[in-house]
Amino acid sequence: MGKMMRLDKFLVEMNRGSRSQIKEAAKKGRIAVNGAVEKKTERKIDPDTDQVTFDGSLVSYRAMEYYMLYKPQGVVSATEDRKHRTVIDLLDGENRNDLFPVGRLDIDTEGLLLLTNDGDLAHRLLAPNKHVDKRYYAKISGTLPLDSVRQMAEGMTLEDGTPVKPAVLEILSVPVTLEPTTSDSDAMSDEARLTEVILTIQEGKFHQVKRMFEVLGCQVEYLKRLSMGPLELDPELEPGEYRPLTGAELALLP
Ligand code: URA
Repeated sequence: MGKMMRLDKFLVEMNRGSRSQIKEAAKKGRIAVNGAVEKKTERKIDPDTDQVTFDGSLVSYRAMEYYMLYKPQGVVSATEDRKHRTVIDLLDGENRNDLFPVGRLDIDTEGLLLLTNDGDLAHRLLAPNKHVDKRYYAKISGTLPLDSVRQMAEGMTLEDGTPVKPAVLEILSVPVTLEPTTSDSDAMSDEARLTEVILTIQEGKFHQVKRMFEVLGCQVEYLKRLSMGPLELDPELEPGEYRPLTGAELALLP
């Protein structure tokens, strides 16, 4: 016997409406369990063996699934794409077309991406009024203005006029400036010219991190998402790898 669950919870998870809508529908006799009309939505069912119908059609059970993916560069955060590999193509098994990424990372961005078939969770994490923090590690070229931390903290306006919410900029390392007399500065590797930062933003506007650094006159050369809300990218994952969320992580989700 599988895990027992409340009839209303089952129908909410299977996207048949909110708990109160389901209660209403049940009162009207629209829900049946194993062929018998059921008006008590708090009763328990076994989703693996009980047959639940809504308006006469069978509601088949699909468990909610949640995966943490280390998105590599070069794949798109979409379920289908004509040109590029998608994050769904990285998953083993065939029947994974119910899963979708929660939010997007650019094709050249890597890092944490949550994949699920739970549309309500996606909504809770992405709704603009929810302000779920996203932390990014970036390597940038150009020279950061002295007041960059303050500019980011005050909430800036992107070049096209879009305002963004306050963000937290932490500068991890800046390029070492060599004396002009040493010829080594010419030999300085491209990598050594980059500034390493962590930026925490509250929204997920198109190319947001890249556009915020553009306002400061800099360019993002490498971008990796480290966390999203309570979820942190598992350091054990390599780019392209994924794993189910743990019970502890699931408990942290909104
Ligand atoms: N900001 C960006 O510019 N790109 C991303 O992929 C994510 C945030």
